[in-house]
Amino acid sequence: MGEKMRVDKFISNMGFGSRKDIKEFIKKKKITVNGEVIKKSDIYIDTDDEIFCCGQRVVYEKYIYIMMNKPVGYVSANEDKREKTVFDLIGNEYRKNELFVAGRLDKDTEGLLIITNNGKFAHNMLSPKKHVDKTYFVRIEGGVISDADIDSFSSGIVIDGGYKCKPAKIEVLENGDISESLLTISEGKFHQVKRMFEAVGKKVIFLKRVKIGELCLDESLEKGDFKLLNDDEVRLIGAELE
Ligand code: URA
Repeated sequence: MGEKMRVDKFISNMGFGSRKDIKEFIKKKKITVNGEVIKKSDIYIDTDDEIFCCGQRVVYEKYIYIMMNKPVGYVSANEDKREKTVFDLIGNEYRKNELFVAGRLDKDTEGLLIITNNGKFAHNMLSPKKHVDKTYFVRIEGGVISDADIDSFSSGIVIDGGYKCKPAKIEVLENGDISESLLTISEGKFHQVKRMFEAVGKKVIFLKRVKIGELCLDESLEKGDFKLLNDDEVRLIGAELE
């Protein structure tokens, strides 16, 4: 036995269109449940039932994970009165109401963003105990990244407010008036990367997340584009499959 769910909600959640679209399909007799054409959208199905929509089997997946290449200018919230949100970029065919961002990025940060309905994963991603590494490409001004900076990052830098960060790894790509590096951290405090660099007198002028766990941003995704992760990719971020 699976879970009981309203048929229109279920099919819409599995990515076949909005609830309105599903009602239309029902009117056009395009949906069957265990071999029977259904006539109403308010009936309840079991997620183990054999359901077809427009000739395609609707297979139940409890969790979905979306990779987005987040553009600058969007906030990582489900709703915002003033700002554009990353959900404005996601069409209705996804389970918009049940999804949330796992590991927010600031409005002015771009790159790899995971959007899921798996709350436990979202929690684990930010927990230092779970060690989900997040790697950022960081461009800074304020001078070169010195050996002393690298040592402070690796021994746990204290940021404003007195919080001692977990050890972080930094790989310097370019040192100069403007310096570039890859920084890997295992936690997710508010503005963490910016505050870590501030603590060594530098200002972050560009920030992009490029990797979570072992999963790299798919660079073929244009800014604002997104895709569903497949099972192998889900494993790379350390999330459960069910
Ligand atoms: N650290 C920051 O400062 N900002 C982000 O968006 C992510 C990590």
